[in-house]
Amino acid sequence: MKKLIIVIAAYFFAVTVQAQKFKDLALTPPMGWNSWNTFQTNINEKLVMETADSMVSSGMKDAGFNYIVLDDGWMAMERNVNGDLIPDPLKFPRGMKVVADYVHSKGLKFGLYNCAGTKTCAGYPGTRGYEYQDARLYAAIGIDYLKFDWCSSDGQNAKESYTTMSKAIAVAKRPVIFSLCEWGNNKPWEWAAAVGQLWRTTGDISNCFDCLKDHGTWSQLGAMQIVDKQKDLRKYAGPGHWNDPDMLEVGNGLTPQENFAHFAIWCMMSAPLITGNDLRKMPEDVKSIFTNKAIIAIDQDKLGVQGFPYFIKDSLEVWVKPLENDALAICFLNRSNKEKPVNFNWKDYPIIDSLTKLNIDFTTAKYDIINLYSKKETGSTAKNFKGKLLPHEAIILKLSSTKKG
Ligand code: GLA
Repeated sequence: MKKLIIVIAAYFFAVTVQAQKFKDLALTPPMGWNSWNTFQTNINEKLVMETADSMVSSGMKDAGFNYIVLDDGWMAMERNVNGDLIPDPLKFPRGMKVVADYVHSKGLKFGLYNCAGTKTCAGYPGTRGYEYQDARLYAAIGIDYLKFDWCSSDGQNAKESYTTMSKAIAVAKRPVIFSLCEWGNNKPWEWAAAVGQLWRTTGDISNCFDCLKDHGTWSQLGAMQIVDKQKDLRKYAGPGHWNDPDMLEVGNGLTPQENFAHFAIWCMMSAPLITGNDLRKMPEDVKSIFTNKAIIAIDQDKLGVQGFPYFIKDSLEVWVKPLENDALAICFLNRSNKEKPVNFNWKDYPIIDSLTKLNIDFTTAKYDIINLYSKKETGSTAKNFKGKLLPHEAIILKLSSTKKG
């Protein structure tokens, strides 16, 4: 009898631990802005408010961006006497609720950052041992998104630590997107779908298209280095649970072609689209990328299938992403430093995808093509696709099945 009670108790414990995550959040990849890539810890109330204003006035909100997330550096160096986190009084003199309320008043959502360890990566107080207290504070402030990092976590079990915070968020009763940031160290794709809505798959991105930045004990990855680490993970992504290849570096010193290609491939991968530039000072080409609804629709497609490269030769990659209504997104990407002519005979390259059971033979199936950048119809798959790609340039197409009769 005693054994039976223990088994039943253990079952209910397991069920409640598994069932903590808020459902119906991030059914498509989250879209927003995060302070880290441009500002690191140099953040303040004015920056948040101006960024929220810019997200609206630039047209980004209208295009689907809605989360404003403050990364590391928003807190004071110590908790207060009650053990509560407090915002840095110089950066946020009126407290954080005022900031959250302002962001909400613009029709946007607000997010904060902390860490599963004892300290954040920039040395501020971490959440270890304060999970439920911090979650209550976040609910009182009114946050909608929590990015949770993995510094100073020696000896901690990642799945357990993130599960505890996920439960704490649930107990605080405010729906919050939970963004796991343990850099893919503990294969979060295998367990985090029950815990949060997105999980980082790699170390940090840097503002280069194709490079590795060595910092001695750790390296930052260029956009292409990150892309190459996603290919085996696509089966883990789907509505409500996404692979996160890190925040965007669009607008942070890349060439116009690189900006577009970086964004296009993130959309092909169903990646969260978290911008990391200064939204207050966006050049037109960057703004036009973030307001290109046709390309954003590829990322936000309801099926939530992560795309993959189906053709790779001499630094030319052709990616495919299955979409709703039997449509496809196709992205031609030139990874080389040289201009590349493209003359692609669809009929030579059937699309076979064991994950979605897609099997398209272009000798018998015909698709109409729209170029999503120029928004022009560009013929069909009956003819070769011809074009020219500048170094690090991408072209993104939408293929729709030609209606018969
Ligand atoms: C880690 C994360 C980054 C950022 C910094 C903040 O490196 O991976 O995305 O949050 O910490 O210190």
